[in-house]
Amino acid sequence: MQGLEGIKVPVRQSNQVCPIHGTRMVYSDRFPTPFCEKCQLEKTLEEKKKFDQVNSIKIARSNLKRVSLVDNPDEYNHAFDNFEANEGTKEWQMKEATRKLAGKYFKDRNIHLNTLMYGTPGEGKTHLAMAMLNAVNKYSTPPQKCIFINVTSLFLAIRNSFDDPMEKWTEKYAVRTLQNADLVVIDDLGSESAMSSDKGEASQFVQRILYQVTNRQHRLIITTNLTMNQLKRTYNPKLISRLLAGSKGSQLDFSGIKDKRY
Ligand SMILES: Nc1ncnc2c1ncn2[C@@H]1O[C@H](COP(=O)(O)OP(=O)(O)OP(=O)(O)O)[C@@H](O)[C@H]1O
Ligand SMILES: [Mg+2]
Ligand SMILES: [Zn+2]
Repeated sequence: MQGLEGIKVPVRQSNQVCPIHGTRMVYSDRFPTPFCEKCQLEKTLEEKKKFDQVNSIKIARSNLKRVSLVDNPDEYNHAFDNFEANEGTKEWQMKEATRKLAGKYFKDRNIHLNTLMYGTPGEGKTHLAMAMLNAVNKYSTPPQKCIFINVTSLFLAIRNSFDDPMEKWTEKYAVRTLQNADLVVIDDLGSESAMSSDKGEASQFVQRILYQVTNRQHRLIITTNLTMNQLKRTYNPKLISRLLAGSKGSQLDFSGIKDKRY
């Protein structure tokens, strides 16, 4: 508050009375038209409030890039606009389906809805998952907390936290952050298995985190190279059941699309 009234210009009382406050209006050499000091202060405070609101919305939207863990920062640029798809193709079907789902997350911030996108490499799963997240992040007002988490990056970060006290991604931080977000992309579920010599170890670890996350988080978008059967073989059935909860109609099979990396 202090400082707003800080610019004290010497003023003189006029004969006019403010119709709102009933106090005498004032004027000065620089502002010869009589004005009400109380009205002026209220206007300044209102402008400050608007400015703060706009600022906090900007900060909330920039949260996506500050908090997420991506494989490659270029992935933040993935959007529906730069996803090429000719009408009638599988790419087009997936684009339409994910666009509709993004609309649901956007419209109803409380909807319990998980999305599963599965298929082989280079089919556009990560691209469209980020496109959904970017759209919700950009257009929701008030903003929704949107986070993108690449599973391998998460695994490596948490493992790093065991002996690096500067690493913010501890297991506890990860669970809390993913639980408290409004919409979370879990990218490349299953890819963590390549990170441990014992094949199941990394997946057990990821499973423990996701299990805790899913007891409160019901808005997950998951991409994976694993088939439904492989998912069920890799993770605990309880976790799979939680991940697939509310995903009827939002399980998207990308298979058949050509690998875009070649
Ligand atoms: N239809 C498309 N239009 C434009 N770019 C595309 C399209 N499909 C894929 N790409 C691009 O191809 C690359 C690979 O796509 P993406 O990472 O989304 O594949 P993915 O299905 O997630 O593969 P993986 O299973 O290996 O993670 C990305 O750079 C992505 O932007
Ligand atoms: Mg991917
Ligand atoms: Zn007034």
